[in-house]
Amino acid sequence: MTTDLSKTGIRMSRLTGVRAIMHDIRQSQAASPSAPWTNLSPGNPVILPEVEAMWRAHTRAVADSKEFGEIVCRYGESQGYPPLLDAVVDLFNKKYGWGITQDNVLITPGSQSSLFAAANCFCGVNAKGQLRKLLLPLSPDYTGYDGICLDEEALVSVPPDIEIIDAHTFKYGVDFSKLHIDATTGAVMFSRPCNPSGNVIRTDEVEKIIALARAHDVPVFIDAAYGPPFPNLAFTPIDPFRGDNVVYSMSLSKAGLPGERIGIAVGPSRYLDVMRAFLTNAVIHSSRFGQAIVARAIASGELVKVSQAVIGPYYRKKFELMRRLMAESMPAIDWYLHKFEGALFAWLWLKDLPITDLELYNEIKKEGVFVVPGSFFFPGTDARWKHRSECLRISLTAADEEITKGVAAIARVAAKLYNKASNTARIAAG
Ligand SMILES: Cc1ncc(COP(=O)(O)O)c(C=O)c1O
Repeated sequence: MTTDLSKTGIRMSRLTGVRAIMHDIRQSQAASPSAPWTNLSPGNPVILPEVEAMWRAHTRAVADSKEFGEIVCRYGESQGYPPLLDAVVDLFNKKYGWGITQDNVLITPGSQSSLFAAANCFCGVNAKGQLRKLLLPLSPDYTGYDGICLDEEALVSVPPDIEIIDAHTFKYGVDFSKLHIDATTGAVMFSRPCNPSGNVIRTDEVEKIIALARAHDVPVFIDAAYGPPFPNLAFTPIDPFRGDNVVYSMSLSKAGLPGERIGIAVGPSRYLDVMRAFLTNAVIHSSRFGQAIVARAIASGELVKVSQAVIGPYYRKKFELMRRLMAESMPAIDWYLHKFEGALFAWLWLKDLPITDLELYNEIKKEGVFVVPGSFFFPGTDARWKHRSECLRISLTAADEEITKGVAAIARVAAKLYNKASNTARIAAG
């Protein structure tokens, strides 16, 4: 018997593409549990000893505090646990001189939920029956935006400018000739630094996007899940953005706390109040225990310090290793890594790839290595655009030996594929 689902039920019970790949990875591992699989797919942060120790110490302190009962045995304010709101206000006012108040802060169960609230409060069909779109100004971007709008028609995205920086490095830019923000735009959203590409949209480009959006009173959501002040996986110096139409969305997940589900949005109260009401209807509020430990880690200054001293350098070293290994082992083809400006992934572009990225995923899997096909990160773009199916996301969360093994497998597969394609082309040419 099939369950009669609502349109929303049908849409939201579908797994987005990348989750289907994660499912395939789990099934492949379960089918051959003794095979020496190398998994370069995860977005889960590495458990770094210094980071774990920080969270353990604050967990103990909260558990032993006299407020423990008040924190975990009672419901709290939907806006957030007051000491955490205070810690965020203090951080932004002292570090960036913003002059915000508690009204400018909203704590949510992970940043995914606040972006979901934003996408569905400001985008979709409005009270006048007009479809207002969620605009991603630079595709590729976070695959989690794919399923974020309850109205499937609402998501649109803009293909990028591609700048070749050197023989094996490229960078995406915003193609303003294709970016149209107007009365049909409900909100603009982008990750900075970007999952999957590691791109940091340039500051002048962000300013231009904000100005174009302001002209139509459109809110801009800057998803800083990897940005400053924590986890600060940004390797080009950037600061948080503020503005009367800007919401800066942060996450504790990549700072080692994905399990506690804490997101922090900072911005104008006219947006946050709407999102807060939406989330109160859906989930009431985020875990109070998690909020309490985060409040302490922010107020003590430790979180910002550990992000800077431990988390950032860790992934930077991993990327340097990957770049060196690629330079040593890739065949003589047009391969490019995106300039590593942040986040925890390498983004590989194999220009003129003779097969699709999904087929490439399977070929690399045959070598015992999992990566993530890139096409899942281009929702809302033309499927015929070749670049869409020429990229791979490679996680930097693996051990050095696994990265070494993974890069060797990618290089072997690439050599085989491009050799075969050039032999076929030679034969065809006679
Ligand atoms: C760019 C980006 N935004 C948002 C999220 C969601 O993070 P959270 O765990 O805070 O919901 C992720 C998670 O991977 C992400 O990569």
